[in-house]
Amino acid sequence: MFLPVIMAGGSGSRLWPLSRQLKPKQFLPLADAGLSMLQATIRRLEGLDAGLPRLICNEEHRFLAAEQLRLLGMAKANILLEPVGRNTAPAIALAALQACAEADDPLLLVLAADHQIQDVSAFHASVRAAMPLAEDGKLVTFGIVPTHAETGYGYIEKGEGIGDTGFAVSRFVEKPNMIEAQEYLASGNYFWNSGMFMFRASRYLHELERFRPDILAACRTALEGASRDMQFTRVDQAAFTACPEDSIDYAVMEKTEDAAMVPLDAGWSDIGSWSALWGISEKDEQGNVFKGDVLHQRSCNNFVHADSRLVATVGVDDLVIVETKDAVLVAHKDHVQDVKKIVEQLKGCS
Ligand code: GDD
Ligand code: MG
Repeated sequence: MFLPVIMAGGSGSRLWPLSRQLKPKQFLPLADAGLSMLQATIRRLEGLDAGLPRLICNEEHRFLAAEQLRLLGMAKANILLEPVGRNTAPAIALAALQACAEADDPLLLVLAADHQIQDVSAFHASVRAAMPLAEDGKLVTFGIVPTHAETGYGYIEKGEGIGDTGFAVSRFVEKPNMIEAQEYLASGNYFWNSGMFMFRASRYLHELERFRPDILAACRTALEGASRDMQFTRVDQAAFTACPEDSIDYAVMEKTEDAAMVPLDAGWSDIGSWSALWGISEKDEQGNVFKGDVLHQRSCNNFVHADSRLVATVGVDDLVIVETKDAVLVAHKDHVQDVKKIVEQLKGCS
């Protein structure tokens, strides 16, 4: 038995204009018809020996999160609310501290709310394989065989085998530069970090204490001053705002000597950008993905999403066009990482 901890506090700004501050991508039905990415993350656990999930998100999204959980029949699931985002190391620390206070050092399966996984039974097999390693004190990550030199992911160098399917981690490098990423890909010995983890709550807290005692202390204070209101736990605003910002990858996984990796071959993708969404979507014969009311002539390899109006393309290739009521994005597929700069520009205007 393990407790799922779902991190849902990201902003998803590269998927603007569908992903907005009031409704970021994890709350949108982007990949699985009818279910938001958060709901799909929870549904994917059916069939595993999982407890009620614990969600961590921004205070601003509490009703959205509660409603999406209620629709899955999980009206009682605990939702931890952050007044500000401080990245994943503090978010997981809050969940681990709370879980330890309520149960006897449970096993946590930490999940991102913005992944798509095609082969659910392969995912279940990897989670089951991770359990004995995590019970044994390892901080387990799930490794993906890399397909290209991606600089937006963490890289795991595979060490000695542990048990039937696991490996020790010789090295963990978060978001390397392009030259390093190319070297890791060529070596054939590196996996991508999927951004999902399994460990005992106390093991994570122990490693955080070693490497980032400042983060752990701030999270303890924030939780001591927390208020409970139905299913919501609101951490102390001043204490959490004072918490330093860092991700689990930099704060703990790069530094710990107790990391282990279980390979995950399940059609995993991080829906981080419009081109990633195009990559996993079903295409027509010309390689186009069309959602909504779209007409086209001589157009190839485009992603077009029409929310409220008819969109027509003629003789254009490799574009992302996203039409919504109050904003339209037209971008080249090779430059979609820069969509977040538009969001930054917009924030600068307000
Ligand atoms: N509660 C909370 N608070 N959640 C957060 C916060 C926060 O401050 N910041 C991010 N999250 C959530 C996001 O919503 C997402 O579900 C998850 O944590 C991961 O955050 P990302 O910001 O998407 O991380 P990343 O994609 O840059 O990198 C991570 O994932 C990669 C694979 O997708 C790392 O773990 C990489 O090593 C990994 O390769
Ligand atoms: Mg991500």
